[in-house]
Amino acid sequence: MNTPQSAILPDHATAAIWLLADIIDKNRIQAACKHAVAACEAAQARYPNENIGLTIAFGADFWGSLKHSHEAAELKNFPSYGTGAHHAPATQHDLLIHIQSLNHDSNFSLAQDVLHAFGDSIVVRDETHGFRRHEERGLDGFVDGTENPQGDDIAAVALNEWGGSYVVLQHYQHDIPKWNAHSIAEQEEAIARHKISNEEFPKTERHPCSHIARTNLREDGVKLKIVRRSLPFGMVSGVHGLAFTAYCGRLHNIEVQLKHMFGDVEDGLTDLLLSRLTRAISGGYYYAPSVERLLDL
Ligand code: HEM
Repeated sequence: MNTPQSAILPDHATAAIWLLADIIDKNRIQAACKHAVAACEAAQARYPNENIGLTIAFGADFWGSLKHSHEAAELKNFPSYGTGAHHAPATQHDLLIHIQSLNHDSNFSLAQDVLHAFGDSIVVRDETHGFRRHEERGLDGFVDGTENPQGDDIAAVALNEWGGSYVVLQHYQHDIPKWNAHSIAEQEEAIARHKISNEEFPKTERHPCSHIARTNLREDGVKLKIVRRSLPFGMVSGVHGLAFTAYCGRLHNIEVQLKHMFGDVEDGLTDLLLSRLTRAISGGYYYAPSVERLLDL
């Protein structure tokens, strides 16, 4: 098996940086990736206990121009989902750089090195810094990540046969005053979990529009799993919410869940989180090839 990029498998990072960029000079990307991977390896060697990880992932336009594009045959530009208040907008870029670890300082230094490696071959369009809250709770107060795959299942879900992974990054902007105006019971109904205990509602008691009902899905009896690496982000006095980040060996699993949240399915139902808590303000699909492929695009 090829080596997966290092920000995919490690769980429980406490800090992350996401950089979105467009590619100006395709001919310099290969060399930049080599320098970036070397910078990450140097940081990991210097701080071995910080779980420093780096993912470099590409949008469909750049990836499709490479000779190994069949390794991510499902990759496409983010199409946008839903309508009106329940809309997931597309803000597709060429490049996603995802850095995560146990230390914001290390993330910041590595991001500096990675951006130095790419130089003016790319233009950065967006930068987000994420942080872990106590008990791994989101800004909504609920524990996030409980049902994530564990152990060997992480690689089995996140990676395809070439050791690569599809990635989705969506920024969700929360309206915390609106959320807090809902009773705890209404918040719990929206997720289908209890807020303090994190206990899951029994299947028969889940609202059909609850987040779990919209994302815990099966096809032909098989659960559509994804590996989430989201963290809260933002400014206290400005935009804040969840930088929703998920990896999967199949883009299909991510897309089917999004369609169920945003009402692009037969039942037309939308996720209660979208009417009570949050709205999507960005969205892009990317492919993170194996390290071997990244060094030989
Ligand atoms: C579960 C929050 C967006 C997929 C959960 C849980 C919370 C949560 C609190 C329950 C605990 C857990 O298992 O992690 C949120 C918030 C979101 C968001 C606040 C946006 C602001 C999304 C999106 C997707 C997604 C966009 C998929 C495209 C899932 C999945 C589960 C889950 C697969 C586990 C379901 C299960 O098997 O029980 N989310 N989520 N979430 N979420 Fe989200």
